Amino acid sequence: MRVLVIGQGGREHALCWKLAQSKDIVQLYCAPGNPGIAQSATLVPIAVDAIDDIVQFVCEEKIDFTVVGPELPLSLGIVDRLRQRGKIVFGPTKAAAQLEASKSFSKEIMRAAGVSTAESVTVMNRQQAEEELKRLGLPIVFKADGLAAGKGVFVCLDHEQAEFAIESLYSGSADETVVIEQFLEGREASLIVATDGKRVIPLVPSNDYKRVGEGDTGLNTGGMGTISPTAHLSQQQFDSAVQQIIIPVLKKMAEREMPFSGFLYAGLMIGPQGEVNCLEFNARLGDPETQVILRRLESDLLPILYQLALGDSSHIEEPRWSSDVAVCVVQAAHGYPAEVRKGDLISGIKEAESVAEVVVFQAGTAVNNNGELCSAGGRVLNVTAVGKSIDEARARAYQGCQRVVFLGQHYRRDIGGPIA
Ligand SMILES: Nc1ncnc2c1ncn2[C@@H]1O[C@H](COP(=O)(O)OP(=O)(O)O)[C@@H](O)[C@H]1O
Ligand SMILES: [Mg+2]
Repeated sequence: MRVLVIGQGGREHALCWKLAQSKDIVQLYCAPGNPGIAQSATLVPIAVDAIDDIVQFVCEEKIDFTVVGPELPLSLGIVDRLRQRGKIVFGPTKAAAQLEASKSFSKEIMRAAGVSTAESVTVMNRQQAEEELKRLGLPIVFKADGLAAGKGVFVCLDHEQAEFAIESLYSGSADETVVIEQFLEGREASLIVATDGKRVIPLVPSNDYKRVGEGDTGLNTGGMGTISPTAHLSQQQFDSAVQQIIIPVLKKMAEREMPFSGFLYAGLMIGPQGEVNCLEFNARLGDPETQVILRRLESDLLPILYQLALGDSSHIEEPRWSSDVAVCVVQAAHGYPAEVRKGDLISGIKEAESVAEVVVFQAGTAVNNNGELCSAGGRVLNVTAVGKSIDEARARAYQGCQRVVFLGQHYRRDIGGPIA
């Protein structure tokens, strides 16, 4: 089978690494990919939002199957466009991808489907936002409606933070749609399933570490690390989240004539009494959740996704998962998550991978004019490891981390530690 993966981050490196091991692969492509992905796939220099060029490539190169990594091409309708050309693709349509691309839409679907989620109101302009802040009081959460690459949510514990949130959200225009939400306390976990809209194949749960600093301090990031499994979610909570969150939402989406197929990711908040609320949906795999999830997947990923994409799910066997623990530590560039410096030379990846069970996925990397590997984004490398216990996996991952060198590199030392 000739397969194309769309994307260029650590998530897509993990996807390509896993798909390249499939017995059904003849040729694997990745657009645009990165230097790490080039070890598993042929890179195609097409940007993730160049939808016309992607469609043309898939048709001309007779790609049998496309897997979409990031949210941007989904929200631009890449799946609809490929299906119009009779192509098989794993991912939601533009309409279904609104579950991620519009927070107000997703809250409305959650409410209609009876899913437990934070109470919220949607406002259309700054004046309404200020009125709601007065009415609801602190703590409070403001969320930009549209895709914001992790920068659209403001959790406000005091008045200064709330003022800052409103200032930021309405800096461009006084008429922006914003979801204002009740603050929920608890610990978070990520529940991701692969689905054709009816059959649901849950992936193993994980949790990420969002803040840049140890002990969950400092600025929010795209994710500084992940572990799977996670102590934040019991098997019972996991099963009930599938039944009470995922399945009703899939039913509601089908009822609204925008059936969801692809990876559906529910961001969960588990409260002090064990109650599980859904904070948000993503219409794709998480990054860096994928990096730990796929390290635990023993089955061939390709036939699962392909048959779901065909809508032919009756033959799919439940995937086999390793009982090992997987850890991913994100090595970030100088300045991240604020202004990022690029072009720092990277060495030691091979040495890191000579530690037992360590695989380094590349995210923000490039090859410079001298043919050397260098940093090219905020989150540069994802050092992953598996082990029989969390301690073993973590020790391996950090041993790997120590062997990688680039100027300005920083990473959290408490991934998989007691603080989560
Ligand atoms: N209602 C809430 N109560 C407390 N924290 C929240 C709430 N909603 C979001 N958060 C925090 O903000 C983070 C980002 O919010 P989320 O809805 O996942 O948006 P996005 O991932 O698109 O930025 C969450 O992971 C969580 O830490
Ligand atoms: Mg989120």
